[in-house]
Amino acid sequence: MWALTSLLLAGIAQAAIPNAMLRGKHSLPKLPLPERFLTSSNDTTLPPITTVYHFDQLIDHNNPGIGTFQQRYWMNWEFYEPGGPIILMTPGESNADGSEIFTTNETINGLIAQQQNGAAIIIEHRFFGYSNPYDNLTSQSLALLTIQQAIDDLVYFATTADLPMPGGDAVKPGQAPWILVGGSYSGALTSWIMVNKPGIFWAGYSSSGVVEAITNYYKYFTPIHEHMPQNCSSDVEAVISYLDHMYAVGDTAGIQTLKEAFGLGDVVHVEDFANALQSNLFDWQSLQPTVGPGAMFFQFCDALEVKNGVSAGPEGWGLENAISSWGNFWNNTYHDIVCGSTDAETCLGTYDTSESYWTNATVDNANRSWFWIVCNQVGWYQVGPPECEPAVVSRTLQPIQVGWQVGPPECEPAIVSRILQPVYQQVCTV
Ligand SMILES: *[C@@H]1O[C@H](CO)[C@@H](O)[C@H](O)[C@H]1NC(C)=O
Ligand SMILES: *[C@@H]1O[C@H](CO)[C@@H](O)[C@H](O)[C@H]1NC(C)=O
Ligand SMILES: *[C@@H]1O[C@H](CO)[C@@H](O)[C@H](O)[C@H]1NC(C)=O
Ligand SMILES: *[C@@H]1O[C@H](CO)[C@@H](O)[C@H](O)[C@H]1NC(C)=O
Ligand SMILES: *[C@@H]1O[C@H](CO)[C@@H](O)[C@H](O)[C@H]1NC(C)=O
Ligand SMILES: *[C@@H]1O[C@H](CO)[C@@H](O)[C@H](O)[C@H]1NC(C)=O
Ligand SMILES: *[C@@H]1O[C@H](CO)[C@@H](O)[C@H](O)[C@H]1NC(C)=O
Repeated sequence: MWALTSLLLAGIAQAAIPNAMLRGKHSLPKLPLPERFLTSSNDTTLPPITTVYHFDQLIDHNNPGIGTFQQRYWMNWEFYEPGGPIILMTPGESNADGSEIFTTNETINGLIAQQQNGAAIIIEHRFFGYSNPYDNLTSQSLALLTIQQAIDDLVYFATTADLPMPGGDAVKPGQAPWILVGGSYSGALTSWIMVNKPGIFWAGYSSSGVVEAITNYYKYFTPIHEHMPQNCSSDVEAVISYLDHMYAVGDTAGIQTLKEAFGLGDVVHVEDFANALQSNLFDWQSLQPTVGPGAMFFQFCDALEVKNGVSAGPEGWGLENAISSWGNFWNNTYHDIVCGSTDAETCLGTYDTSESYWTNATVDNANRSWFWIVCNQVGWYQVGPPECEPAVVSRTLQPIQVGWQVGPPECEPAIVSRILQPVYQQVCTV
């Protein structure tokens, strides 16, 4: 358990990504492969672990007659003995090439294989990498990118694939135990499959499974708010409430001055500025039990709270200091990390609908495929809270706004407005 858990956490520690929608896309990590040849239990040398196999997957499970596409998978049977289980996983929302580590005993998948004399497989999710029902990612093609189709893919694979290992044509569920593993989105997929298609997989192992589709997912920030250093949350709250107040009263000059204190005067839209501030809070997710005070999130709070070697009490240093210390941290340290030498608007602006992550319909544009899933099926918009709750993330960030940015090129407007309805049901309980 430890192995996969730590790997998942490591994967989450990705470099800062400007677009907040992509900050929520925490793909499983790609890790270096062990440098050894694989041999089976009787000392036969096995094909390299990077060998790509192809499965004839149905393009549309609701209409099997229209044909198949090639779905890529990788397989390791070094520990396999007849009667052992088949351990299957999809890395989910990314090109699966480079994820072969999930067939080795450096992950939970391979440890199960090792212990139970099983074989481990990773399979690429439809519309990611080079496993595509059609050779483009236009919305016409992406109509077949649904969670139900992804569920049906894994079931169809398990029930019909003839696997490349000896005896691999006679290990279907019923002939051999199948175990499904996943993490994050693919962890959720694992849980959904166990419920939606019971009786295929003998066991499902969902690590960090994000099983609930929440459109207005402002509560993502609640544990961060509650557990970050209190002085830091006090000061962040002060800046956010100052920004939101200016927004509410239409004080554009005041907002401009605030943006300039962060070196972000060129960022045109207040929501993009709010997204930039939100980035510092997202760094919480990269913390791990093993990281120390140098972690980015703590660098951020130290920058706000430690003044001449003295740190503030729980109430923080107050608004004025918070603006200048957070502003300096952005301008002198954080801008480089997020944007490198790219200017602020190019880096942080999300209103340019010609950005390639919206528009590029060439296959292997994982961001576009991911946006499609997010906006059509799961939401998970990590936004500001309703008025009655204290905010460390600006309330200018709302699902309707995030959704509309995704909307025009990605989602049919009707679908966008349907999934965004819950925003209007945002109620406070007092
Ligand atoms: C040894 O393993 C290989 C590959 O798994 C298989 O083809 C072969 O039949 C096995 N030989 C024996 C003697 O079990
Ligand atoms: C993983 O498998 C390899 C090959 O069988 C073995 O040498 C190694 O000891 C295994 N690692 C663990 C942690 O069991
Ligand atoms: C994209 O694929 C669809 C099939 O879904 C095809 O009909 C269409 O012509 C393709 N469009 C482009 C621009 O290649
Ligand atoms: C204040 O901030 C510092 C630096 O981040 C932190 O080490 C300390 O625990 C915080 N103290 C309180 C009372 O929040
Ligand atoms: C941001 O940094 C640049 C160069 O490091 C400096 O010229 C500018 O005055 C700084 N702006 C703020 C608001 O600190
Ligand atoms: C679109 O994406 C493909 C695949 O990632 C890439 O090769 C191509 O350069 C991109 N095109 C544009 C215009 O960004
Ligand atoms: C997805 O978007 C992020 C942030 O813009 C970028 O770093 C990454 O390379 C993109 N991934 C793909 C597969 O295009």
